[in-house]
Amino acid sequence: MDLDIAPLSPHVGAAVRLEPNQIGQPGVGEALRAAWLRYGVLLFPGFGTSPERHVALTRCFGDLLVHPVNTNQVPGFPEVVDMSYVPPARPGELSYHAVYEIEGRALAGWLPWHFDLSYMAAINRGSMLRALEAPPEGGRTGFLDRIRLYELLPEDLKRAIEGRSVIYRFQPDMMKRKFCRPADMKLLAPSMRASYFDGERLERDFPPVVHPLVYDQAETGRKVLNLAPMFAVGMEDMDAAEGDALIERLIAHCGTADYAYFHQWRENDLVIWDNWRTMHCAQGVPPQYARRMQRTSLKGDYGLGRLATDDS
Ligand SMILES: [Fe+2]
Repeated sequence: MDLDIAPLSPHVGAAVRLEPNQIGQPGVGEALRAAWLRYGVLLFPGFGTSPERHVALTRCFGDLLVHPVNTNQVPGFPEVVDMSYVPPARPGELSYHAVYEIEGRALAGWLPWHFDLSYMAAINRGSMLRALEAPPEGGRTGFLDRIRLYELLPEDLKRAIEGRSVIYRFQPDMMKRKFCRPADMKLLAPSMRASYFDGERLERDFPPVVHPLVYDQAETGRKVLNLAPMFAVGMEDMDAAEGDALIERLIAHCGTADYAYFHQWRENDLVIWDNWRTMHCAQGVPPQYARRMQRTSLKGDYGLGRLATDDS
């Protein structure tokens, strides 16, 4: 089965032109999964006109997961989470996403590079995001291929990370995260969800977990730089300062590699990313614009995460 596929960038992602009646046809699922393995990220321009179609396309890639943390489900669709930013109707009203000032600009929903669920021992296979309403500017999602990032590492960094693991911890407040927080960042308005994750709940429900920094992609044997800076808190079994410096070097490598694809959303675009092999970030939207998005997640843990031991 040949699909109409065009690369989105030299290093990650491809656009797939798919007709709605192709879903379920013989060979289409296999061809989509093969393209996903090859490109890491697939864009379906203008394909997602409904939650039903979003779910049907996600099913071509595997079984759906009910997100373990995000409970903002779309009514009637437990596997579809609403992640919309909508400007508050009244001053002081809180939105689903926090608003930060970064480099002098107000941005809602800004998120640094990560793969999803790095703060859990079990992660998910992938996620599919659908734009219901795209802002006239901003709101782009960035994607990086972590296999490519590994290939681009200098040899001394490849040696430094072999056999090492990173400790992660869930922290919904960006101002309290350890890495990837711009020096001049200010919180302008917290997320409406911020108070839900009080300190006690964070301690109880989100113990520190560990993921290996390098692993082999099962299908190809290629090495993956398995880093998610957003929720990283340090290196396991390493001097803290030395470990932090190593993570900062890796973050600089990711940020300067210039091998990312940044997607400017249009209404009804659907994008699926391989969570085992790519990273993504959200550049944030000017808070006067709505950015309405829904998301599904695919089941499938890679089996390499674990709870941190007490002395890590
Ligand atoms: Fe994410």
